Amino acid sequence: MKDWIIKGNFLESESPDRFHIVENGFLPVTDGLCRGLFSVVPVQYQGLPVTDYGDRLILPGMTDLHVHAPQFAFRGLGMDMELLDWLNHYTFPEESKYGDLSYARKAYKDFVACLLHSTTTRAAIFATIHSAATLELMEQLERSGLQTLVGKVNMDRNCPEVVREPDVTTALQNTEQWICEARSRFARTKPILTPRFIPTCSDALMHGLKDLQRRYQLPVQSHLSENYGEISWVRKLSPTASCYGGAYDRFGLLGGDHACIMAHCVHSTDEELELLQRNGVYIAHSPESNMNLASGVAPISRYLELGLSVGLASDVAGGSHLSLLQAMMHAIQVSKLRWQLLDSNVRPLTLEQAFYLATAGGGAFFGKVGRFAEGYAFDAVVLDDSSLSHPQHLDLRSRLERLVYLSDDRHIVAKYVAGIKLFG
Ligand code: GUN
Ligand code: FE
Repeated sequence: MKDWIIKGNFLESESPDRFHIVENGFLPVTDGLCRGLFSVVPVQYQGLPVTDYGDRLILPGMTDLHVHAPQFAFRGLGMDMELLDWLNHYTFPEESKYGDLSYARKAYKDFVACLLHSTTTRAAIFATIHSAATLELMEQLERSGLQTLVGKVNMDRNCPEVVREPDVTTALQNTEQWICEARSRFARTKPILTPRFIPTCSDALMHGLKDLQRRYQLPVQSHLSENYGEISWVRKLSPTASCYGGAYDRFGLLGGDHACIMAHCVHSTDEELELLQRNGVYIAHSPESNMNLASGVAPISRYLELGLSVGLASDVAGGSHLSLLQAMMHAIQVSKLRWQLLDSNVRPLTLEQAFYLATAGGGAFFGKVGRFAEGYAFDAVVLDDSSLSHPQHLDLRSRLERLVYLSDDRHIVAKYVAGIKLFG
């Protein structure tokens, strides 16, 4: 892998509340890893070739901690229902189409192209129950250069037959085969166990998934405490669990001995938050989805104060955009409404905090990812805001803020993942 120096205006998160900004800075990259940000090139790196991005902004690549690839095709449609009706009316019928590999190939091509040209460099992705289509998605993602975790979805109850595993034994056999094939074929596209959520997964399926988790040392992703209708259904389905999170934990599928992402956590109780913290679970905050499906607003600045691990997510097609810059904007906006209308004790998110969620916060799920500090993977996006003209000189923080609110994919001019240039 080639060693070189990137030059430009760098912004990264030093902590959830502070930017680290280096104007006209230098970032040496060796073996695909960042060697820190400098105002002058350190002696040991002098002589390396320089890629100069001039006055453009260079940000750490962003992590989408929760997104449904098969739902990309119907993003922006069917926004007139809450979660459970939305699943039955729109989502399950769409996901049933992925039994047809040629449909999957076409639809996933659009998804991967859009993800490639966004600010996202890493993602945790739900596919469908179909192994062949999930492997097709993984193949396309592998070719894109993005680093992703992808889950063949598991569900065996409370959903139409066309998206239901025929029985637990077949479900587990198919899942194990898919894990083995994915591991043998892909390097940057890895399997993640994906029980959809408690309502669609029987106890027997969950026990079997825990066995697979242990045998293959896999991470796990699912949904938690998203919407009132869902939460009261889970209470009826798992009456012995003292909170929704407990309904996963009793199968050993809520972190602790494995890496785990739970999407939403909009209405998590104190008991549930303690459990998430104890088990090191990552919360995927999906503000646009939580608006569209009338789920509510998660108190994210409180979660940050408590020291919970939180990242940002598009949750397409609950969310209608893959853009994490837009997700940052939505996170800030909904937090202000929550603060004003619901609870003045939970402060609105700042730009610093929203940026942290999109970069270092979610990136940490993938290891040393989401910063430019020594030893971090070199994941970066280069943004050109020259078309967003302004009559005055703006500092870099203000230029970033304008990109969050005003930019689109045309402003993204280069992208690197794990030291490899994907475009630009
Ligand atoms: N809960 C279970 N499945 C889903 C899904 O596809 N999207 C969202 N937002 N929540 C879910
Ligand atoms: Fe989701």
